[in-house]
Amino acid sequence: MAEITRDVLIVGAGAAGLTAANDLRKAGLSVAVLEARDRVGGRLWTDVIDGAMLEIGGQWVSPDQDALKDTIEELGLETYSRYREGDSVYVGPDGQTHRFTGEMFPVSAETEAVIAEITERLDAMVAEIDPDRPWEHAKAKEWDSVTWDAWLRAQTDDDEAVRNLAFATGSAMLTKPTHSFSLLQSLLMAASAGSYSNLVDADFILDKRVVGGLQKVPLLLAERLGDDVLLNQPVRSLEWSADGVTATTDDTTVRARFAILAHAPILYSRIAFVPPLPRRQHQMHQHISMGFVIKVHAVYDRPFWREQGLSGTAFSPYELAHEAYDNTNHGDERGTLVGFVSDQNADDLFTLSAEERRERILESLSHYYGDEAKNPVVYYESDWGTEEWTRGAYAASFDMGGLHRYGADLRSAVGPIHFACSDMAGAGYQHVDGAIRMGHLVASTIVEATRAAGDTAEVDG
Ligand code: FDA
Repeated sequence: MAEITRDVLIVGAGAAGLTAANDLRKAGLSVAVLEARDRVGGRLWTDVIDGAMLEIGGQWVSPDQDALKDTIEELGLETYSRYREGDSVYVGPDGQTHRFTGEMFPVSAETEAVIAEITERLDAMVAEIDPDRPWEHAKAKEWDSVTWDAWLRAQTDDDEAVRNLAFATGSAMLTKPTHSFSLLQSLLMAASAGSYSNLVDADFILDKRVVGGLQKVPLLLAERLGDDVLLNQPVRSLEWSADGVTATTDDTTVRARFAILAHAPILYSRIAFVPPLPRRQHQMHQHISMGFVIKVHAVYDRPFWREQGLSGTAFSPYELAHEAYDNTNHGDERGTLVGFVSDQNADDLFTLSAEERRERILESLSHYYGDEAKNPVVYYESDWGTEEWTRGAYAASFDMGGLHRYGADLRSAVGPIHFACSDMAGAGYQHVDGAIRMGHLVASTIVEATRAAGDTAEVDG
């Protein structure tokens, strides 16, 4: 059994853990990052599948994501814009394909008016929410006691309006059925992106990508840490007391003054805590779960949809692939489409054989782009549900009533154990930006604690 001693041990080499580790090192503290997988990046994973570079996990950067943008710049990475020239496509309740430009779906004038009116109402509510403290809103309990679906249906009986409004935080973001999470959870999702309008604006929320893939961010952050990042090290147990922590993996013991658990809360229970975590954490963590979405990649010999004047942007709350985009790599001659199949549709698809699944998904994409979409040269489904160290996509959220009941305690340290990940962020919640923000926050909290304890950690900024 190898033995290591550091100031801080970090469980998880995702964006949050690696950001925290770099900050702590800059502040003069020694670190060890223990990563269960044989690679860094967690939910950021850029890989080559059948000759095509694919973003298996997170990829897009939006203009308000300052923490991520700063990191990208600091690492010297280049970005490029998502292709968006031409018409978008919407499939309505009649199954007909409609082309449109701008943000509003081509729905009837009445439905459009309803969507605009409720969007305005939602923007006003979101403006009152502090994404770091949604539970502090005067109506937090009330808004956490009604499902997103029920609230929307109480505003209008226009089903097409409800489905299109529900979609932004439901299938597209929290990736859970809209009856399974609250209005407050939905408002937090929107507040974390600045407004509900931002969230429904694909040109805003899915703005840019990193040349070479977003996994370059964790790869470069890890490179700076060198041997202090240890792969294939699932932390099995964590002993803790006021004096510090001891983490044990299958072949290594790491002692430190502090630990940071930098992974989704649903994985805390994979670690045996000695002594057990307090009652509050035991209860709280049972009310958090991952959403589920299949990210589908289809690569073609050329971006054929562009020849038809299509941008590749496509939506429909009536389609299996509820949204799809041109995801062609920077400088690539081939064309790539990315589509998403969310929550219950994703569950249902995994009851089918791989061939049937592929056929159903490509059939759905063909409703947007025509029959040519049925014949990609490379086809791949990102299935994070089978990943032992993630167990869903994109991220975790509270069940009904959980956010106002427990939210305030999610980031609270337990003795020397601190918590950080995108799943507990305010701004950038569920996104890489939020993971980085949480990494910075937890590192500064620990640096402050060491200073308060009279430590001599040298700070160079
Ligand atoms: P993350 O889960 O990345 O890292 C945690 C690490 O801890 C993992 O590497 C895991 O292996 C490790 N770990 C867990 N338990 C352990 C244990 N016991 N011992 C040791 N190691 C352990 N975001 C965005 O901004 N733009 C986007 O376009 C997308 N799109 C997207 C698509 C898909 C398919 C997914 C799955 C996700 C996204 N996201 C996204 C979300 C984004 O990828 C995500 O929020 C962050 O990458 C999460 O970073 P964290 O560091 O918080 O956790």
